[in-house]
Amino acid sequence: MKLRFELVEFGSNAHKETINLRDDILRKPLGLKFTKEQLDAEFNQLHLAGYNEKDELVCCLVLMDYNSEKMKMRQVAVAQNVQTKGIGTQLVKASENVALEKGKSIMFCHAREVAVPFYVKNGYNTYGEKFDEVGIPHFKMEKKLV
Ligand SMILES: CC(C)(COP(=O)(O)OP(=O)(O)OC[C@H]1O[C@@H](n2cnc3c(N)ncnc32)[C@H](O)[C@@H]1OP(=O)(O)O)[C@@H](O)C(=O)NCCC(=O)NCCS
Repeated sequence: MKLRFELVEFGSNAHKETINLRDDILRKPLGLKFTKEQLDAEFNQLHLAGYNEKDELVCCLVLMDYNSEKMKMRQVAVAQNVQTKGIGTQLVKASENVALEKGKSIMFCHAREVAVPFYVKNGYNTYGEKFDEVGIPHFKMEKKLV
């Protein structure tokens, strides 16, 4: 599937649409909801959205500028009906290009244990011990971009 990726403006309708997708894919299945404080805290993060040929939002993630060399990839979500078709892989690649453009050399994330094989396939390595976040097991993973 050919996708178009765009960094959407915080507070825009396109941004609100990404929050709805994240809520559907990452929060509702856990019985959780985003709080206003959590969402407001993302005002200075980058919101990357991927659209299909009909201009429908099919995936999104959030990038947090962590330090001069590292970008943190967060909130990786692909719409349920189009998962495992290579969209997540395109999304992660697009976010790595954004990180490179911002001068970063390492991308890292807190990966859900179930998604570890997805990140491994995309060149990420786990490090450290398994830990709990939002009530489910996670691993820290990272990839050297340059
Ligand atoms: C995980 C996710 C982002 C992957 O995106 P995707 O478009 O489905 O994945 P791709 O098609 O690009 O990659 C497929 C590969 O990833 C892995 N994979 C995909 N979905 C997976 C899942 N739900 N659980 C475990 N591994 C998965 C498989 O290894 C698969 O490899 P294969 O094609 O050789 O079988 C997406 O399925 C998703 O949004 N899942 C629900 C939310 C989530 O877990 N987000 C990650 C939070 S850290």
